[in-house]
Amino acid sequence: MDIMEIQHITKTYKLKNKGGITVLNGVNLRICKGEMIAIMGPSGSGKTTFLNIISGIDRADGGTVMFSGRKFIDMDKSEMALLRRRQMGMVFQDFNLIDSLSVKENIMLPMILEKKEPAVIEAQLKKLSELLGISDILDKNTYEISGGQKQRVAICRALVNEPEVILADEPTGNLDSKSSKDVMQYLNKVNQECGTSVLMVTHDSVAASYCSRVILLQDGKIITEISKKESRKQFFKEILDVLSLIGGDTDEF
Ligand SMILES: Nc1ncnc2c1ncn2[C@@H]1O[C@H](COP(=O)(O)OP(=O)(O)OP(=O)(O)O)[C@@H](O)[C@H]1O
Ligand SMILES: [Mg+2]
Repeated sequence: MDIMEIQHITKTYKLKNKGGITVLNGVNLRICKGEMIAIMGPSGSGKTTFLNIISGIDRADGGTVMFSGRKFIDMDKSEMALLRRRQMGMVFQDFNLIDSLSVKENIMLPMILEKKEPAVIEAQLKKLSELLGISDILDKNTYEISGGQKQRVAICRALVNEPEVILADEPTGNLDSKSSKDVMQYLNKVNQECGTSVLMVTHDSVAASYCSRVILLQDGKIITEISKKESRKQFFKEILDVLSLIGGDTDEF
């Protein structure tokens, strides 16, 4: 079953006095229930622009984005806001936690905005903080925890309203390699145990190897995609091979 169907997305940014720059040039993608997908590609290839369009932050110039069979274009602002609050979980490179709130308060906030019952909030907090291994830091302030813990808190917060999909822009971009692997293992666990689909943008081939499918974007188009068939290590090698095909320094990814 498709959670999202994205057809022929185009986006051109207008530049002052200089015409425009076409950033997305006909991108198609289907995200199925329970899939875990990485989008990779050189800096400036349009990854964040694509993620912003499919999460409703930005608008495409052409093409359609459908969520559970409904087109974004047919939704008004409040429907779109509800869809984003209830069915999408967003995760960012710099965590976006609120520093004046505790870990627990950060996680509870999206449920409070949805006016959930206190008993539901408590139950969800307990279940998901255990899943993400952060039960013991709930009363800490955000500045008292590590980057890896911050990202696990952000993932927990993204999950509390039980979204269909998590959309993440470089979720391991600010983390060391040990914390990156840790966060990816937890995202894998969430994907498998909650059935939440994940679409993440990443420069990190190790992080991408935890996904089931890797899409390669270049010059605003999907140029190829590969699926995991065997072990994660084998998939990691395949990802490196594909990246080397498009040239450039793979360290940039
Ligand atoms: N609001 C904007 N106005 C004009 N140009 C923009 C805007 N946002 C992005 N761009 C341009 O669009 C192109 C794609 O940007 P985007 O942020 O999507 O790339 P990216 O693949 O996410 O890159 P990175 O890996 O560095 O994060 C870049 O050339 C960028 O300068
Ligand atoms: Mg980006």
